[in-house]
Amino acid sequence: MQIVHSIAQLRAIVSTFRLAGDTIGLVPTMGNLHDGHLDLVKRAGEIANRQVVSIFVNPTQFEKQDDLEKYPRTMEADLAKLEALGVDVVFAPDASEMYPQGRLVTQVDIPEISSLLEGASRPGHFRGVATVVSKLFNIVAPDMAVFGQKDFQQLMLIRQMVADLDMPVEIIAAPTMREDSGLAMSSRNNRLDEEQRRLAPNLYRVLQAVEAKLSSGLKNFSVLQNEAMTELDELGFKSDYITICDARTLLNAEAEDKDLVILAAAYMGDIRLIDNIPVQLD
Ligand code: PAJ
Repeated sequence: MQIVHSIAQLRAIVSTFRLAGDTIGLVPTMGNLHDGHLDLVKRAGEIANRQVVSIFVNPTQFEKQDDLEKYPRTMEADLAKLEALGVDVVFAPDASEMYPQGRLVTQVDIPEISSLLEGASRPGHFRGVATVVSKLFNIVAPDMAVFGQKDFQQLMLIRQMVADLDMPVEIIAAPTMREDSGLAMSSRNNRLDEEQRRLAPNLYRVLQAVEAKLSSGLKNFSVLQNEAMTELDELGFKSDYITICDARTLLNAEAEDKDLVILAAAYMGDIRLIDNIPVQLD
């Protein structure tokens, strides 16, 4: 496994893969890898001859300096996990390699998606994500890139960007990996204390209950949302939103929509957890 810190070196390696006729799969991450990330890497291995995993805690997608500084960095453990999976290249640039001017100058913005839901509570977040992912696509030039459905809105954002800017990258979505309790895997879970860890899986249970109601034909979406938020608050969360959306637009679902997603964000203490369940009605 080659560990590369510079864009020039990464490009040189990738061009040798290309000359050999190999296809390239990219998995962008911010490190602190768990089994959810590793599942994306395995999927990349199934569909491309060569896998590139990027590990970069992207400063431009954090609003608060404090959150950026606190983001867990576990490079050695991450590299061991990727080595065990047979990854070809890890791209781990410094912030100065990615942002020589120390800030975002050229920006990729997808305002319609970026202003909703996660974007509403994190202004600028999705601009940072879209910009860094487009940079990674330009640097690695992968045939395909794998993203998790766990971050449903992020996945939609990337799909929109790739379509609108004609980026020649196939976007592969990987399902959310969960702990046995149902809790979606996330680096943030490490910050939960024992009691919070016991309560946190209720987020998924509440979403599953909404899913069951939708599947049984209930269409009173705003009532379902409000009931579920009240339930979360009673279970020790401070709910931010539970919303039933058209999965293609992320706009509020209409009664005739079939391709839905239930999205949730809730605080457990000061830790913001997100989860979602896509629901296909027939
Ligand atoms: P990060 O949070 O490290 O996530 C990297 C990838 O892992 C994302 O595609 C995310 O959706 C996926 N992922 C996280 N938890 C998952 C789970 N439980 N199951 C399946 N997939 C999961 O998302 C980012 O980094 C950044 O915004 C990035 C795209 C790298 C841009 O900086």
